[in-house]
Amino acid sequence: MRQFDEHTITEAVIQRFCETGNARLRTVMSALVRHLHDFVREVEPTEAEWRTAIDFLTRVGKKSDEKRQEFILLSDTLGVSILVDAINHRQPKGATETTVLGPFYLENPPEQPLGADIAPELPGEKLFIEGDVHSLSGAPVAGAAVDVWHSDSEGFYDVQRNDLPEPALRARFRTNSKGRFWFWTIMPRSYPVPHDGPVGEMLQATGRHPFRPAHVHFRIEAPEFETLVTHVFVAGDPYLESDAVFAVKESLIAEFPQMPAGLAPDGKEMKEPWRYLHYRFGLKPLAGG
Ligand code: BEZ
Ligand code: FE
Repeated sequence: MRQFDEHTITEAVIQRFCETGNARLRTVMSALVRHLHDFVREVEPTEAEWRTAIDFLTRVGKKSDEKRQEFILLSDTLGVSILVDAINHRQPKGATETTVLGPFYLENPPEQPLGADIAPELPGEKLFIEGDVHSLSGAPVAGAAVDVWHSDSEGFYDVQRNDLPEPALRARFRTNSKGRFWFWTIMPRSYPVPHDGPVGEMLQATGRHPFRPAHVHFRIEAPEFETLVTHVFVAGDPYLESDAVFAVKESLIAEFPQMPAGLAPDGKEMKEPWRYLHYRFGLKPLAGG
């Protein structure tokens, strides 16, 4: 057959992939065509709408470079990134739930000693973060590399500001023999995902806001365990119900209580009240480990 109608076209295109040597690629291409054609049959786009879609995707590509990944942002805001994350990280009981990495992670952040302040000069409410890293059986994981990063008190990451001399609000810590790490910083704030591009247009056209609830990112890597990529969200944040990238999980929401001036857990004398986060992270063993 060489002529196809709106119903027979789908099978014809899928057939064209039957010589694909890579079985996984054949599965992916066939499913893509099937779902794409079903989508087009359901929506019945006009030619002008089809052109608008092509123009939108073209602009998403043009907005992307080594610093800005508009396609990942599109995936994030359509809930695809968190769906891929959920499928790839079905966590057993006792393992911390995962969530998206986001665009503001920098590999190999500066290593800092336990107790360091990663926001020494920045305005904001002082925050002491203490974490326990353990295996599924509850054994402490010593020597884990804990990368942390978060927004400042105005909702900006260091890479979005050009007035900071050093990497700020980010560091790598190593857990001690008890699987513990701790450091000082400032309270993060909710912030909008980059919305000055086509994804921002999509959010606006659909009546969606671009905000993410306040959170601290953690990436925890240790031999014999799956690397954990997650956030801890600040309880009470107004955007927890409507995170622009759908990345909130109940188990990742924590209280950051305000503590009175006086002695902090690391022995530091605090003149002002400060905020405190204590969180336990459970690591999943590597498959076959
Ligand atoms: C973030 O949390 O840093 C983030 C995640 C997804 C999109 C934009 C920002
Ligand atoms: Fe973030």
